[in-house]
Amino acid sequence: MKIGLLGFGTVGRGVYELTSSRQDMQVVRILCRRDLTLPDVLVTHDFQDILQDPTIDTVVEAIGGLHPAWEYVSAAIQAGKHVVTANKALVATYYDQLLPMTQEKGVFFRCTASVGGGIGWLSELERVRRCETVRQVGGIMNGTCNYILDAMTTRGLTYDDALAQAQTLGYAEADPTTDVDGFDTWHKLIVSANIAFGVSLETSQIPVSGIRRIQACDVQAFRERGLTCKLVSTARDVGGVFSAYVQPTLFPACEPEAIVPTNYNLITLVGNTSGRQSFLGQGAGRYPTAYNVVQDCVDFLRGQGFYGVYGPKVSVSNQEKLMYYVRGGSDAWLEDNVAQHWGSAVITRPVAVEQMHQWLREHPSVFLAALPEKR
Ligand code: HSE
Repeated sequence: MKIGLLGFGTVGRGVYELTSSRQDMQVVRILCRRDLTLPDVLVTHDFQDILQDPTIDTVVEAIGGLHPAWEYVSAAIQAGKHVVTANKALVATYYDQLLPMTQEKGVFFRCTASVGGGIGWLSELERVRRCETVRQVGGIMNGTCNYILDAMTTRGLTYDDALAQAQTLGYAEADPTTDVDGFDTWHKLIVSANIAFGVSLETSQIPVSGIRRIQACDVQAFRERGLTCKLVSTARDVGGVFSAYVQPTLFPACEPEAIVPTNYNLITLVGNTSGRQSFLGQGAGRYPTAYNVVQDCVDFLRGQGFYGVYGPKVSVSNQEKLMYYVRGGSDAWLEDNVAQHWGSAVITRPVAVEQMHQWLREHPSVFLAALPEKR
């Protein structure tokens, strides 16, 4: 396999290093904005040098973001090249164009590193779907948010100091608001749910709230009650009715989510026959992410392309009811739904997820977290 590598940042450099001594695949050209000299690979500033090189059969996209990543990936597919990407924003945003295009051109496409970093989560979903129906997917999918929440909870760091550390360690996106506002997790949920359920979720109906507004007083209130806050995604298929959302969620100490450390992810599926399966690993960072890019390339060598079928567009409805911790805003609707007070924060009665997020959009300075569901 001859690889054209797009990007030489955190992930791209990792892919170059992990493939440099392999016999079955070689990075033969790298697209990089910087002037870079490598002993064994030609570096170019011009994507056409990769697109028009007939010896390159596989493009690995590691530049991130939507543009020009989408233009490069779609051009590579149109040119008949296989594509591996770690870019969840790209896959979630262009799912309905990307998948039909790869089928039409008969090329392989995989994106295992896009969800869960070093965890073989999407590959395992593919195996699960061979034998059973997946009813639920989700969990802790963002290493940066987990690092921040873990550092605030276990080390007493401020939000800003914890975020700065996560950026230094190379976990955060180029624009870390993507992480802390939950959009990175949102993209990963869309990719996971689409593959798990064999559909294409209507993304405009999937609400998201992040951790930007969390304060030390929230962490303290949770700790006093034996709870830990995590940013969590959830998607369910209940007999063809789909729900999906991203929100901070509280866990009691007995749940595995409560002790997920640093940049780790804990991603869970619930299958019809196998029940709950959870996958723990480093969700961000150079080598964990590059590892799964290389795994995708190995899958191509074994003739394994996409994870399953591209499915129909389906709508999302979040009518399930949860209790919420809410701090930083109030109005008549919230007062009507208060069940308890925790200091200056309130705990709501069970309210529909859709309704709570609708209210949150009108009160953007509020921090909220869902209370544990009864199991
Ligand atoms: N910024 C992402 C995270 C990188 O923190 O999880 C891996 O997708």
